[in-house]
Amino acid sequence: MRVITFGTFDLFHIGHVRLLKRARELGGSLTVGVSTDALNVEKKGLSPFYSQDHRLEIVDSLRFVDEVFYEESLEKKRSYVEFYRADILVMGEDWAGKFDYLSDACSVVYLPRTDGVSSTLIRDALSGEKR
Ligand code: CTP
Repeated sequence: MRVITFGTFDLFHIGHVRLLKRARELGGSLTVGVSTDALNVEKKGLSPFYSQDHRLEIVDSLRFVDEVFYEESLEKKRSYVEFYRADILVMGEDWAGKFDYLSDACSVVYLPRTDGVSSTLIRDALSGEKR
């Protein structure tokens, strides 16, 4: 079974590690779509701290990641699932229900997040906000 997942993976942290490791355990290969800087600016109004090239290189270096690509549009999820021949789409449970419309193309699984950590929390803590 081929697994696919998506994310920004900025300021790479333990929540990212655990999500990717569990995603890989659901199948025999894991493909990861790393969102582009432009997609983040468009959707969150914020450019990630690490460039898309660095984020992609970090994710690609993990032993439980087999293949990476740039996710350029949220609306292209179905074509990515088809192009990478994914059997299972994994998303964090913060997206619960949002990708059920793809369940005719693949199984859609939402995994629990790791408590207490996120790129936003790290960014805010380092910038001295919300301590
Ligand atoms: N993730 C997780 N546990 C966390 C943070 C993220 O399991 N504590 C998962 C997300 O659910 C997603 C993947 O890691 O499936 C990549 O998420 P990303 O958007 O990069 O992570 P965040 O750290 O939540 O980023 P942000 O604060 O910008 O939303």
